[in-house]
Amino acid sequence: MKLFDVYPLNNITITRALGSKVWDADGNEYLDMYGGHAVISIGHTHPHWVKRIESQLEKIAFYSNSLVIPQQQELADKLGKLSGKNDYQLFLCNSGAEANENALKLASFHTNRKKIIAFKKSFHGRTSLAVAATDNPAIVAPVNQTNNIVFLPFNEVDSLNAVFKAQGNDIAAVIVEGIQGVGGINVATTPFLQAIRQNCDQYGAVYIADSVQCGYGRSGKFYSHDHAGVQADIYSMAKGMGNGFPIGAISIAPHLQPKYGMLGTTFGGNQLACAAALGVLEVMEAENLLNNAAEIGQYLMDGLRQLPLIEQVRGAGLMIGFDVPDSIKDLRKNLLWKHRIFTGEAKPNVIRLLPSLALSKADADHFLDAIGAEIKALSSSSTLIPS
Ligand SMILES: Cc1ncc(COP(=O)(O)O)c(C=O)c1O
Repeated sequence: MKLFDVYPLNNITITRALGSKVWDADGNEYLDMYGGHAVISIGHTHPHWVKRIESQLEKIAFYSNSLVIPQQQELADKLGKLSGKNDYQLFLCNSGAEANENALKLASFHTNRKKIIAFKKSFHGRTSLAVAATDNPAIVAPVNQTNNIVFLPFNEVDSLNAVFKAQGNDIAAVIVEGIQGVGGINVATTPFLQAIRQNCDQYGAVYIADSVQCGYGRSGKFYSHDHAGVQADIYSMAKGMGNGFPIGAISIAPHLQPKYGMLGTTFGGNQLACAAALGVLEVMEAENLLNNAAEIGQYLMDGLRQLPLIEQVRGAGLMIGFDVPDSIKDLRKNLLWKHRIFTGEAKPNVIRLLPSLALSKADADHFLDAIGAEIKALSSSSTLIPS
């Protein structure tokens, strides 16, 4: 049997990882500025997280949601405390798409409405409603196409107000990333997020903060929407939540009432996943990783802004993007193959940095030195090409 070939691959096999470093099968060391796609929050193979998972595994890995699983309440308490949402309710699932799918369903159940507002360049996952709310027709199958999603320009208050004015009573939810990830690191402005809150309040719609990539401390605050001082009705999360162990969740405001059978999952909230997620939050708290993300993120952005040629350095905390002009278009490729540094990308020309929230200043310097040297090398070689 062969693998279903949907991923273009770099021919590298990682066999070991620690903190912000990973090693391939030949023992070569790489700096991970990609965090395995924004997933590594507390650092690869953190010893406390490993111990937490191992000791849970020795007792019980899984039993169904039909019985009491005390680890779920422990996780809810810890998450409520660290995210400043003690009065919210937690529903556990397994991935980011599933979190958004449940958030959108819950909003529709709550309002008894069908219309969803989403934004240009959004990415919300690949399940049916999440992918329909994603602005990429190439990944929406015919069966997922629906007229229930209204796509509006990101960060444009006037068009948001106009749509609410025209059809506000049909709108179940607005789903928005506080910082668009796949779309190229686009930071939502405070007036835009405030306008979403205000319209949702006025028309009784549900404000869903897709925090799958920009949440869980990545922006330097627990949720990126916190920078705007805005409270969402539902926060969806996944990626950093398990530091690589698959787990997702939605954090739900108190006025959204549950009903037996309304949402459900077989695997969500199992003992092992909860232990992994608790390990993450314990490390985030003990090592003050939100502060580290804010500090090192600012340091990286300041350093990047000193460099020639790259443009529009933007982001918050350790979610950073910048544009790469055509003259140095091999920058990302060379960072990997010449300097052994993993970065992320957003098409067509954005480099995305999504490293562990525990990234050290020394690793940030290593990255800045390497990218500075590579920009120099690429720009001098491009000027040598005869016209
Ligand atoms: C903002 C956002 N939402 C949802 C998802 C989907 O998450 P998953 O791949 O865990 O289903 C992603 C994944 O990249 C994402 O970036």
